[in-house]
Amino acid sequence: MKKQHDSIRPIVWQDDHLELLDQRVLPHSYKILEYTDVHEVADAIRDMIVRGAPAIGITAAYGIVLAARQRYAENSGAWKETIQADLDYLAASRPTAVNLFWAIDRMKRCISTINGEPVSPLLAEAIAIHEEDIAANYRMGELGAELIEPGSSVLTHCNAGALATGGYGTALGVIRSAYAQGKIKEVHADETRPWLQGSRLTAWELIQDGIPVTLNADGAAAWLMKQGKIDWVIVGSDRIAANGDVANKIGTYNLAVAAKHHGVKFMVVAPTSTIDMSVASGDEIPIETRESSELLDLNGNQIAAEGATAWNPVFDVTPVEIIEAIVTEKGTINKPDQFKMRKLMEDKL
Ligand code: MRU
Repeated sequence: MKKQHDSIRPIVWQDDHLELLDQRVLPHSYKILEYTDVHEVADAIRDMIVRGAPAIGITAAYGIVLAARQRYAENSGAWKETIQADLDYLAASRPTAVNLFWAIDRMKRCISTINGEPVSPLLAEAIAIHEEDIAANYRMGELGAELIEPGSSVLTHCNAGALATGGYGTALGVIRSAYAQGKIKEVHADETRPWLQGSRLTAWELIQDGIPVTLNADGAAAWLMKQGKIDWVIVGSDRIAANGDVANKIGTYNLAVAAKHHGVKFMVVAPTSTIDMSVASGDEIPIETRESSELLDLNGNQIAAEGATAWNPVFDVTPVEIIEAIVTEKGTINKPDQFKMRKLMEDKL
């Protein structure tokens, strides 16, 4: 059953095809795109029609259902071989969010168990991934809200909401739960240059669900903290290393440093599918760099000086030492470190 403030579902499997809410054109257009081809699904991930770590993983899982249907129809005896190129193509869509590789691995394990028609078992697995993500978000919402005192003001970055997940969100799931409990005085959101996930997506989805939000330029965040207006910074993650270092949208590290300086607490909310125990620290996390045009242009019009070049890493890494809490569906780690991370992941098994 849906929770309060929980109306948005960006990914829908409809009968025989996948539907994605086009996040490039929100909030000005509400456009649903339909997919029957795995390569088009991978391109949708690369082109940010769907974005956010858990949403990318769920979309890839449904993409693999489409791939299996395509390859099985072409050659029912060889589909397990021919699908490998599709899995590689999906894996090449975006490098940082580990949920993509986690979902592909889980679907691969399912493929290895199939004898005969593949669509039904793979669709059941993709739906399970999708539903488990929403359930994890509900659980993290409860756990994260427990950390928040009544009357708190919070600041979030990027979009770690329903749009970035199967539904409800990670960081925004905590904000939704705490708001429903009457604990939140104000929600602030960084606009999140250059792609404006904050002003376009986070503001849109909170307003849709009846939660007031105040936007600020990314550069205003430290000053907002200096005024004593923020109790918690709450963000999601694209990949958490074994030692607890957190990769997330570029600008998250700035926020964590500013929060530490101002005595503001810093919470990361992410399902265990975002934890990558195979990378020892954040230094090993691949950081995606996108086209410089995302910085030099706005809506297709050049805004930067002619001749300027741009550097556009789209994620950064926040060191574990300055994180107050990591909230997962398996529990909360206060003052995380590599030992607490290992314990959480071992308890998971
Ligand atoms: O480039 P994006 O929009 O895919 O980046 C998304 C983020 O950085 C989110 O904060 C992260 O994926 C967590 S989403 C629950």
